[in-house]
Amino acid sequence: MRNFVRECKEKKLTIGFVPTMGAFHEGHLSLIRQARKETDIVIISIFINPLQFSALEDYDTYPRQLEKDIKLAKQENVDCVFAPSVHEMYPKGFLTKIEQDVLPEKLCGAFRPGHFSGVMCVVLKLFNIIQPDIAYFGQKDYQQFVIIKRMVLDLNVNVQLRMLPTVREKSGLAVSSRNVYLKKRERQEATNIYRALKEGEKMIRQGETSAAKVVARMKSIVRQIKGVKIDYVVVANASTLEPVNEIKGKVLLAIAAKIGKARLIDNILVP
Ligand code: PAF
Repeated sequence: MRNFVRECKEKKLTIGFVPTMGAFHEGHLSLIRQARKETDIVIISIFINPLQFSALEDYDTYPRQLEKDIKLAKQENVDCVFAPSVHEMYPKGFLTKIEQDVLPEKLCGAFRPGHFSGVMCVVLKLFNIIQPDIAYFGQKDYQQFVIIKRMVLDLNVNVQLRMLPTVREKSGLAVSSRNVYLKKRERQEATNIYRALKEGEKMIRQGETSAAKVVARMKSIVRQIKGVKIDYVVVANASTLEPVNEIKGKVLLAIAAKIGKARLIDNILVP
């Protein structure tokens, strides 16, 4: 990987990088297509990072389809797929941790302790190995993006970051590798998550300034999903991720909920 990167740099070719955990869907492909438009060489990584899963989470069952993903990558004219083993990324003796204050404790962090530390560690390693000019992430993982942006600024990592809009099914459901866990009825009802976000957005655009009222309305829509377990429904400051009481300025509406075996997250930004 390092040799290939060196050759690209010597030829003054710009590198676009899409980090992934595989199981490609339209969201991944949209990132790859944007990288293809903006940079000379497109590198993607496929690595299911054990450090970002807790013992109780779905590391073992996370969808794995390397051959299919490589075919899809070829179709999108990706120049290089980096798919290291766990042993290569974390050899015996690996001891280092990346931590960040404040942002990783918010939203999903409160329900997934250690998750963002694992994400930062692997992303920083991948940035160091691939040395991309531009790296691409999806808005569905908005908190991840904000944390990585902070890490890149704080640690002087020489990369530009792009966040691209969440890709949705016709029903509004955000595409996600974890949607395969949903049964048919759950998949239909999961569309309430986006419906709740849109309803929250509508209230704000119509002048509602009470976050409590917007949250209550969004929760009532999410609760219509049979058997749903809500982790959070919030109106938060889009930069600090801190829940707000009074809505003024740009806010993030964000939801995380468990439906059957899937934990789904979604969000929208309301300027
Ligand atoms: O968003 C993801 O798929 C992962 O968190 C990432 C950025 C590839 C790190 O493992």
